[in-house]
Amino acid sequence: MATETSKRGIWNSRIGFVFAAAGSAVGLGNIWRFPYVTGESGGGAFVIIYLICVALICVPYLFAELSLGRHHQRNPVGAIKAITGPSGWLLVGGLCVVAGMMILSYYSVVAGWAIGYVAKDVIAPHTSFEEFIASPGMVITLLALFLGLTLYVVIGGVQQGIERWAKVLMPMLVVLMFVVIIRSVTLEGAAEGISFYLYPDFSEVGFQTIMVALGQAFFSLSLGMGTMITYGSYLPKRENILNSGGYVAVFDTSIAILAGFMIFPAIFALGFDPAHGPALVFVILPEVFAEMPLGGLVGVLFFLLLSIGALTSSISLLEVVVAYFIDEKKWSRKKSVLTIGILAFILAIPSALSQGATGFLSDMSYLFGEEGLFGQNDFLSILDFFFGSLFLAVGAFFISIFVGWVWGAHYAAEEIQQGSSFGGTLMKVWIFMLRYICPAFIFIVIMGMLFDII
Ligand code: PHE
Repeated sequence: MATETSKRGIWNSRIGFVFAAAGSAVGLGNIWRFPYVTGESGGGAFVIIYLICVALICVPYLFAELSLGRHHQRNPVGAIKAITGPSGWLLVGGLCVVAGMMILSYYSVVAGWAIGYVAKDVIAPHTSFEEFIASPGMVITLLALFLGLTLYVVIGGVQQGIERWAKVLMPMLVVLMFVVIIRSVTLEGAAEGISFYLYPDFSEVGFQTIMVALGQAFFSLSLGMGTMITYGSYLPKRENILNSGGYVAVFDTSIAILAGFMIFPAIFALGFDPAHGPALVFVILPEVFAEMPLGGLVGVLFFLLLSIGALTSSISLLEVVVAYFIDEKKWSRKKSVLTIGILAFILAIPSALSQGATGFLSDMSYLFGEEGLFGQNDFLSILDFFFGSLFLAVGAFFISIFVGWVWGAHYAAEEIQQGSSFGGTLMKVWIFMLRYICPAFIFIVIMGMLFDII
């Protein structure tokens, strides 16, 4: 069994990697973002387009990140440098590290709300969601608590921190999720929600739907910013990238789909509107819980699982930045984690104050006009658009070009072949997808996003 003998970490077991990478993928993206985006984008038809994006674009691209990471066993910047030497491509690695930092900042704010909601009946029983997220003391304390937990796990290292905790937290999340789903689908009137969710109505689908679906798929699978390069770099050569990556994709997608079963039946059963935007799980669900038998308990469980999912994801966001400082700047793990943790906390404060606490951060129409970006005008949502959608697509575009053309798809395929039987036709199809289909499709989506901003 591999141990952490070298200075870099290494996963102890395949299952450890799968849990950690699935933990990175499953998070607020699946349980908070996926349901509200599905609710806003018309239900079943969106789900089908999402699944197509995952299968055709994200899965082939996921193998590119994993192979690049494992080949040179480096963080995103180091992996690229090992191939090209000093070159403009290093900027792409740099973009990954910056995106990791920025996503970590606002992600921790939302995760802080989730932790707060676990104990909301105790800490702020009569406060509405709007008041809750607008009270600076509350959100900043919760943010600090959440970031503190993230730092604690990451300081422990790859095996003793990330892998060990992922193996405990992920099964907990799945069990809690099934408890909430059973409650939700057995409510009277749940069938209408299930049919909204499953019945595809393509009449409302447009290019915007495809754009949102691909952005969501990248975010949900933690792609486009080097998480899978970094996690792949801790994979021993004998491991099967194809199987392990496949499990992660299937697991993440299943959890997103299950999150819908947790939420839509309950929303329809109690007569609420599914198109409620980012507040969906925080505003509507507590009302839903309040009206159902055993609702108090289900509510606590739900927000607990949301917090757990968020924690295993924020760990991976932090790890990308930490791995860069450990590999490239030769910092110790402890120094990297503490320095970056403090910086992330400072960077998160504007997002924490952008939900009503401070006027000029909560409504940035002076910069983005009355319409905002995709209808949102607060600092947190603006960061989420730039770093959680646009930059992920840009990162994925350049990384797929890099692996497909600059490093060379054949080398990547050779890397994947070590430890797996990846041969013949399958390999040819993959190379074609990586070199042509992924970059072309992602490019069109990026153009669409840019058009939307202008
Ligand atoms: N995939 C995570 C989620 O669904 C978020 C994330 C994005 C994590 C990018 C790492 C990198 O919540």
